Amino acid sequence: MGSWRELNSYLDSATPNSVSFALEVKKLLNLQIHMNHKLKIGVVGLRMGKEHIDGYLTHPNTEIQAICAKEIEKLESIGNQYGIDARYESYEEMIAKEKLDIVSIATPNRFHKDMTILALDQGIHVLCEKPIGMNAEEAIAMHRKSEETGKRLMVNYSYRFIPQSVAIKQRIDAGLVGDIYSASCHWLRNISGFSQFGGWFGNKSMSGGGVLIDIGVHCLDKVLWLMDFPEIDSVTASTHDYVCQKVAKESGLSFDVEDTVEALVKFKNNANLMFQVSWAANISESNLIEYRLLGQKEGILEQNINQGYTFNAQTFYESNGISYTLGIDHVSPKLCPTSMYYFVDAIINDKPHMANGSEAVKVMQLIDAIYKSAETGKQICFN
Ligand SMILES: NC(=O)c1ccc[n+]([C@@H]2O[C@H](COP(=O)([O-])OP(=O)(O)OC[C@H]3O[C@@H](n4cnc5c(N)ncnc54)[C@H](O)[C@@H]3O)[C@@H](O)[C@H]2O)c1
Repeated sequence: MGSWRELNSYLDSATPNSVSFALEVKKLLNLQIHMNHKLKIGVVGLRMGKEHIDGYLTHPNTEIQAICAKEIEKLESIGNQYGIDARYESYEEMIAKEKLDIVSIATPNRFHKDMTILALDQGIHVLCEKPIGMNAEEAIAMHRKSEETGKRLMVNYSYRFIPQSVAIKQRIDAGLVGDIYSASCHWLRNISGFSQFGGWFGNKSMSGGGVLIDIGVHCLDKVLWLMDFPEIDSVTASTHDYVCQKVAKESGLSFDVEDTVEALVKFKNNANLMFQVSWAANISESNLIEYRLLGQKEGILEQNINQGYTFNAQTFYESNGISYTLGIDHVSPKLCPTSMYYFVDAIINDKPHMANGSEAVKVMQLIDAIYKSAETGKQICFN
């Protein structure tokens, strides 16, 4: 028996009483093969995409094979910094010429669908930036293509991967919080941090929408994930654009999306979500993020620290007349890998992954309903 392949086919022909032993040996064999195999990654879009490169490089089984962007200077500087020789201005050319295992898509939202479908059709797994696409119709087409080709599609819902969120999710899944009957999420920035005038984020034909599809999508995804994607009953929402429209008009720059959204989402299990996001709220903080979950046993609070992107989380409960406030965190950052590490790990160990096409479709259906409710002024009911 000279090769892995021969050993594999021998194990495949194992007699019934040796089947479980053969399966164990095969698992070890696959692990051994995977441990030596580096997945070849292509990254398109090099602003957020640079964070993808850093994220993949935390995993030993990855190799950044190629990068793609429209800015020649970025291709050069990032290519030189990471020692990546294959540099493309055309995505189609990169896909055709490079033998990639995974492509990471970090371009403006308008390109997510076509780029994802092209890669999946070529047998390449896709990690796509959020939002998955411009609307639910695009999300469904992408998810279907992933199912049809058997190639993976994950959306970079990066806020699921912060240590406090991972710890909160574990606490909920362990049953310590109890059924969640009420949730709220506020992500408010003031106009001092707003730089989207004239850019694609403020242009509906490139982005699909404004603050809702940009940062609101993270909030909705995270709350739905923490609540285990309960079935939605109805949505009532409003959108506003006063603050940004005024500034855009004064400065003569284009802006045709909303800057603020509120929504009330009712779930079929009688739980509710109150949701408020803004790019340009009249508040003193430049960036305020807060999630609150009320469970039958505990309440959970997660807040950003010092208006930035690190977080504090706490749980509150009462027992025998004593009230408790406990911090929630992960003791080891190793338990909270980046989303890129997580995706690679799922592929090489043949495990299912979260933030998949099916979940992303549900988030986009909720976003579509919020826009529809705001546009019609009516409650939108789900079937
Ligand atoms: N997960 C997060 O927290 C997070 C944070 C920021 C942005 N994002 C998402 O990442 C995506 C990109 O956002 P950004 O802020 O990096 O945008 P950006 O405009 O700063 O950068 C876009 C990049 O895509 C490239 N690009 C554009 N069109 C292209 C094309 N046709 N072919 C090849 N390359 C093309 C550009 O050259 C540029 O490098 C968006 O979907 C955004 O929502 C996610």
